[in-house]
Amino acid sequence: MTWHKVAGVKTLEQAKSASAKVGDHIVYLAKRDGKLYAMDGVCSHAKCILDDIDEKTLKTKCRFHGAEFDITNGTMLVPPSIAPDMDKSKFGLKTFPVRENGMFVEVDVD
Ligand code: FES
Repeated sequence: MTWHKVAGVKTLEQAKSASAKVGDHIVYLAKRDGKLYAMDGVCSHAKCILDDIDEKTLKTKCRFHGAEFDITNGTMLVPPSIAPDMDKSKFGLKTFPVRENGMFVEVDVD
């Protein structure tokens, strides 16, 4: 297990969500009600970078074709509009352990 610094705690609190590059991964981060979430930040449909989140539901919607993911567990909630029959159960995104350590948010992508 290797922790990587990906954001400042205050920066993430102000932004509500953020993307960070960790090695070969792009990780999408969010914080709500004091809890941190980290999920693969690349859409499983056509590899668009995810960067938009509904702060109340913690759902992120891909800007390309509208697929929706739950950042708390990586589940694909809504398939892409151009592939409505896509098997959502096969296209969820990986989530990662995430923590605060002092002034920084850290993620383990290993
Ligand atoms: S690239 Fe995300 S829904 Fe198509």
